Formats: sequence, structure tokens, C-alpha cells
Amino acid sequence: MYSEKVMDHFQNPRNVGEIEQASGIGTVGNAKCGDIMRMYLDIDENQVIQDCKFKTFGCGAAVATSSMATELVMGKTVDEALLVTNKAVMEALDGLPPVKVHCSLLAEEAIHAALWDYAGRQGITIDGLEKPKNDISEEEEDEEY
Ligand code: FES
Repeated sequence: MYSEKVMDHFQNPRNVGEIEQASGIGTVGNAKCGDIMRMYLDIDENQVIQDCKFKTFGCGAAVATSSMATELVMGKTVDEALLVTNKAVMEALDGLPPVKVHCSLLAEEAIHAALWDYAGRQGITIDGLEKPKNDISEEEEDEEY
């Protein structure tokens, strides 16, 4: 049911924890399943993500997708990180079962929320970044599974 990569990232999640002097922190939840994710980004003066950590109070698929998402955004610029969508994360994990696709949205939205926080602190705007939702279940009905 789950790919080997999903099982690996679930059992050995990368980059779990928090960053004390984070440049941006994003927290999102899904009111329907009650899962919560917090993403921390350390971004340097060239807008390159030097470090990324996460904490998830969530299901195994949420753990695996956030773990993979942190690996994918590390070393990327802020603009490049916006391209790390939930689909990109799922592809990197060799897919998720259809009922678990929504879990990957937590990771994408948490990255966006952390970038939004970073942009606010810096007083900049990031092209293509929209105000993130605190509760992603609001948009779930619109998602194609
Ligand atoms: Fe809630 Fe997976 S069931 S994030």
C-alpha cells in the first residue's frame, strides 16, 4: 500500500525538530483529521534556505511527506521552494494511496506559511505566494483525488 520511500521517511523522518532563531515559522492544521504541522525555515541573506525542520502531530503519511518536503526545500531559494508542491513531494515519495493525498497538502501549506511568515518579517513580497490557510480542510473539497 505504501512505497518503500514512504515507509522509510515515516520510520526515519529527516529534519525533525525546531530551529531556535528561525527566519520563518508556519503552522497549519486540518480540522477534519485533527493533524497539525509546524515548519521552521532558516533563510540566509541571499534568500537561500539553509535549514528546514518540522514537527508534526499527525498521521504517518503527514510525517513522511513533511520529511521529504524538508529535504526538497533545503538549499533552494525562496522562489524555488514555492515549486515544491504536494504533487512534487508525492512524486519524490513514489506516490501515496489516494485517501492519503490530502496529508501531503499539510507539508506544502506549512512551507508556504513559513515563507509567508519570513516575507512578513523581512517586509518583502514573494511572487506567487498567497496567504496560507490555517486550516487546509477548508479547501479539501476542491482538491482532486
Ligand atoms: Fe490527517 Fe493524514 S490523516 S494529515
